[in-house]
Amino acid sequence: MEQYVIKGGVPLSGEVEIGGAKNAALAILAAAIMTDETVTIDNLPDVRDINVLLDAIAGIGAKVERIDSHTVKINGSYIDCLCVDYDSMKKIRASYYLLGALLGKYKEAEVALPGGCNIGSRPMDLHIKGFKALGANVELRNGAVAVEAKELVGTHIYLDKVSVGATINVMMAAVMADGKTTIENAAKEPHVVDVANFLNSMGANIRGAGTDVIRIVGVESLHKTDYSVIPDQIEAAATHGDILVKNVIPKHLEATSAKLLEAGCRIEEFDDAVRVSAAGPLHNTQVTTLPYPGFPTDMQPQMAVVLGIAQGTSTVTESIFENRFKYVDELTRMGADIKVESNVAIINGVDHYMSARVSAPDLRAGAALVIAGLAAEGITVIDDIHFIERGYEEFPEKLSQVGAKIEKVSTEKEIQKFTLKVS
Ligand code: UD1
Repeated sequence: MEQYVIKGGVPLSGEVEIGGAKNAALAILAAAIMTDETVTIDNLPDVRDINVLLDAIAGIGAKVERIDSHTVKINGSYIDCLCVDYDSMKKIRASYYLLGALLGKYKEAEVALPGGCNIGSRPMDLHIKGFKALGANVELRNGAVAVEAKELVGTHIYLDKVSVGATINVMMAAVMADGKTTIENAAKEPHVVDVANFLNSMGANIRGAGTDVIRIVGVESLHKTDYSVIPDQIEAAATHGDILVKNVIPKHLEATSAKLLEAGCRIEEFDDAVRVSAAGPLHNTQVTTLPYPGFPTDMQPQMAVVLGIAQGTSTVTESIFENRFKYVDELTRMGADIKVESNVAIINGVDHYMSARVSAPDLRAGAALVIAGLAAEGITVIDDIHFIERGYEEFPEKLSQVGAKIEKVSTEKEIQKFTLKVS
């Protein structure tokens, strides 16, 4: 089993370059099959989720040509199967984007119900509501969602809850519908905008992405494009210390930057970089996760780790997913003082974390434990890093560049070797 071993207590400093946004890339890859021409997508993060989705796309017959680790060419004209099986879906929830993409293009698709990070119940009722509103028949059979329509007709759709997935999936299905579609109460996340920009570069007519009303005028077909995915908003903020985080869009990080500032960090914003430093003591603050531009739920565990060693009592309220405090028990084993009451974590700051052997419960919580390990005195070992590798490219390498002592290992002997090397 692969693990990360970390020698903590080393202040980080230097520059780190941020890769493409995983969550934008996943939807863009799915949308790329909507034309029969060849689409080139660049600035892809080289992480497990992306590779799993590319396998699922190749699995339905599309031609997937890897140019290098960050660039791929996709040609959807070879698609010969409109079903995505459970094997792909259980590994990665975002393969549900193939539902919207296939429905939009072929007016038919069958996709197994998804797996993914176990961070709470994640229904698809809003996706389904949107597809139905566009005129599709939706049936649940054998653990799969089957959608099919004679034709899709533009309409007015109100999403009862702000959902990134439903907004993107319905937007994809509507791109080639007949007439105008309006999506109200749409998600405004940067990746929703990126997917809309991508589709527009293929000839779609989407306006208003990034606001809560998206207007789409259906087009007959889409064409080829060359597109570069936006930088990741979550990976960037996960590197805490005295660090210049390069290749980011500072606006996308505003909620996180604001909270780090409140907690006593120094933040300097440049055109495409943010410098974060924490010279003095950190203070308590209150954080509530909300849809963009609110504080991202995907940054909640990492922020809690910072507040765990800030002076005073902080609260972290999770308003999006109910099961996102699974890291608390692990962090408690590292000396944190955190109590969870319903969807609020009450964090009494402690002086420092202690090293321990811990397990990553999911992707972002795993990243949070890495941060705790970097701050802890002594050697921390993190198990189940396959969760972390779903979303972070070369995590140990990037952190090492800024002075962290971290390695990926797979045996006790390697852990001992690392311990000897760093002590
Ligand atoms: C996406 C991100 C994930 C992030 C989340 C919230 C991807 C691949 N994943 O997940 O990293 O944590 O946005 O920013 O982009 N809901 C319903 N019915 C639905 C759909 C959603 O009730 O049909 C609820 C969910 O249970 C949740 C809330 O809406 O409480 C938001 O979920 P949503 O934005 O859809 O998250 P994902 O798209 O799954």
